[in-house]
Amino acid sequence: MKLIFLGAPGAGKGTQAEKVSDKLNIPTISTGNIIREALKNETEMGLKAKSFIESGKLVPDEVVIGIINDRLAKDDCKNGFILDGFPRTIPQAKALDEMGIQIDRVIDIEVADEKIVQRMSGRRVCPDCGASYHIEYKKPEKEGVCNNCGAELIIRKDDKPEVVLDRLSVYHEQTEPLKDFYAEKGILKVVEGQEEVADTTALTFKALED
Ligand code: AP5
Repeated sequence: MKLIFLGAPGAGKGTQAEKVSDKLNIPTISTGNIIREALKNETEMGLKAKSFIESGKLVPDEVVIGIINDRLAKDDCKNGFILDGFPRTIPQAKALDEMGIQIDRVIDIEVADEKIVQRMSGRRVCPDCGASYHIEYKKPEKEGVCNNCGAELIIRKDDKPEVVLDRLSVYHEQTEPLKDFYAEKGILKVVEGQEEVADTTALTFKALED
């Protein structure tokens, strides 16, 4: 299955993509994670993306389209994949079409902006392996420490409330039009994000079956 997870920053795309990825045994491709990794390793692309990602702006289309083109050519994508955080603009979606990729379903996770600001303030991430936690909804076994690698958890620079508000306005302006783009193709399914992660997951699987 070839899937896209759409939604505002912090709506829970990454969380749900991980569940579906485990069940269907297909990789999740998160452009955000790929860019953060490049930033950590100070590659040319990472340095180019730094000011955009830290201020909550979108990284230029040509950069992310290049990332996706390279990633989808890898062997593990042959039986399907989940795109988490791509496309984010109409030109990115059109580029995907031009690559000849047939997407089966687009899952749009809907969460109100007020709820998102509250959620993001509680997110903690591992700077080493990229694992994501929440101080209330997804606690690590030991407070402030990554379950996978033992590193000290940090707050992402773009999770500061003022940057989250900028990311939300970028989302409404540049990414939300993708809902109509995919609804017109007849492949959009809307999932209302719930208080409990497991409840959102149940609705996500239902949206994949219908
Ligand atoms: P990216 O990393 O993609 O960030 P995002 O879309 O802003 O999404 P997040 O990872 O912040 O949130 P999410 O929806 O995955 O939510 P999560 O599951 O973590 O992108 C970052 C930046 O990279 C962009 O701003 C841009 O600069 C650049 N970039 C990336 N892709 C790009 C592209 N295509 N084009 C241009 N630029 C690009 O959940 C959030 C938190 O809520 C978690 O802590 C979770 O535990 C918690 N939570 C609480 N309750 C629930 C619940 N019921 N369901 C799910 N999670 C819950």
